[in-house]
Formats: sequence, C-alpha cells, structure tokens
Amino acid sequence: MATLADPTPDYTILPEMADDIFTAPLARPAHVAEDWLEPRQADYTAEDHGVWDDLFARQLDILPGRAASAFMTGLEKLDLGRGGVPEFGQLSQELRQLTGWSVVPVPMLIPDHVFFWHLANRRFPAGNFIRTRETFDYIQEPDVFHDVFGHVPMLTDPVYADYMQEYGRAGWKAMRYNRLKALGALYWYTVEFGLILEGGKDLRAYGAGILSGPTEVRFAVEAQSPNRIMLNVDRVMRTDYVISDLQPTYFVVESFEDLYRQTVERDFDRLYRSLPAGFTYANSAVIDVDNVLHRGSQEYHLRGGRGSGARPV
Ligand SMILES: [Fe+2]
Repeated sequence: MATLADPTPDYTILPEMADDIFTAPLARPAHVAEDWLEPRQADYTAEDHGVWDDLFARQLDILPGRAASAFMTGLEKLDLGRGGVPEFGQLSQELRQLTGWSVVPVPMLIPDHVFFWHLANRRFPAGNFIRTRETFDYIQEPDVFHDVFGHVPMLTDPVYADYMQEYGRAGWKAMRYNRLKALGALYWYTVEFGLILEGGKDLRAYGAGILSGPTEVRFAVEAQSPNRIMLNVDRVMRTDYVISDLQPTYFVVESFEDLYRQTVERDFDRLYRSLPAGFTYANSAVIDVDNVLHRGSQEYHLRGGRGSGARPV
C-alpha cells in the first residue's frame, strides 16, 4: 500500500489520508466512489446552456486586454464559445492532444487528497452543475462555468499544464507534513487569483477566480486598491487569503516558466519543516522582502468590502 511517507510516491494510486491530517470535512455522496467522479456528465437543459452562453458573452466583453494571452489562446484552441456547456468527452479529446490533460466531472468540491491525485494524473475535476439566473453573478461553490471556462483554457499552455501536475504531486508532501493550508495558499494566489506581467510590462490575469467573474477582472488588473507583488513561493505560502471577497493582494509572475521553476526547484521538505501551522502574514500585508509592483490604497477593503456598498476601485 502506498503511503504518504514513501520518498518516491506512486502518483497513480490514490493516497491514503492519515486521520490526524486537517482537511475540509466533506460528505461523499452515495453515488460516487472514492475517486469522487460522477459516472457521467450532467444532462443540461436548454436554460442551463443559455446560462453558459450568457456568462461566456459577458466575460468576453471584459477579458480582451485583461486576460493572459495564454488564456485567450486556450479559449480559441478549445473553441469554448461554440455554444452551450462543453461536452467533457470532446473537450478532453482536444485537450489530450494539446497537453495530455482531460476534464472529469465531480459533484462538488472534493477532498484535497483526491483533488491532488487527479491533478498529478493530469485530470482536471470540474463541477458538473451550472449556476442559475439567481446566482448568475456570484456563487461560492465552483460550477462548470468557473471550472471549465476559468481553468481549462490555461491547461492548453504546456508549461502551465506541467505546473498544475507538479502542484498535484506537491500535495503528497504537504499532506505528509500536515501543511495543506500553506499549499492551498499557493493554489489560491496562482491558479485562482494569479496575475502575469507579460513582456515585462503588460499586467494580465490568468487565475480562474478572476477570469470567471465580472468584477474582479478590472479590480485585479486596474484598480488602485489592491497590492500587486511579484510572486515568491515561500512568501505566498505564509500568506492568509480571503474566500468571499475581492483580494487585497495579488501576486504576479514574470512567466509561467518562472512559476514552474519556483515550484519544482523549491525544497518543500525544508520549507514545510520551517512553516508554522497557521499563516504569518495578513492578506493585505506588504513586507520588507516584497518586490512591490503596486502598493494598494486598500480603499475598497477599508470601506468595508463586499456588502458595504464600497466600489471596487
Ligand atoms: Fe477554481
């Protein structure tokens, strides 16, 4: 039996989670097995397909000039705007030819060790359901629009595709040291809310949390409020994050090669041994070692953030 203590884990085998590892408590629905995969993708109604099309059109009004070139290219390569919720089988076939990834349906958020296992095997778990008109602007649980529109285009970029697989593999070590929270922060500040400085001058978003919604694209790339700091993996893994509001701080990569290099070259054993269990830095903090691109006014959050009526400026 493969265990997390194995120095060279077999990534094809679902890792066993020890009882003392902290992770979000999720109840597995009766109809899914330990891999948490749905037997098949959902049947979407005409209304569901219409929601996808309207969300797609809204994002396409906002994204040019603000989304990373790799993302825009990925959208085109996969023709995600062909109409309606994409069919995962066909999408996977196209993606497999480009970078060897596939997209697999899951019912909801899945446990960390299962998520890492899928990523380590180049499978991207995507929420099966789609939001309704009532939750058109914001949902907390990732749906098929967030997961497929937000994440999948970036998986057409070969270097980014490798980064995502390495991230999955890094999960084994994080579980061994009980530092899933720290690795979660890295995911949050890159895969969900990452920015890239293209050609050393053009700030663009590549994080799915930014790209799949209407408000955060402009806020992340153009607003005065948030800090924008060049990414340093050690620093990011010590930084707290906000789940239910716009980010006070974004971390910026020079290139996806740089992101990949910083992650694979980092000695995570040493890092985890020195990391405290909780976060060291507040999500709005700017610290001495930071390479700051923009020091934010934090006006939006100082005025109360989401629900306060503060404008995201
Ligand atoms: Fe996501």
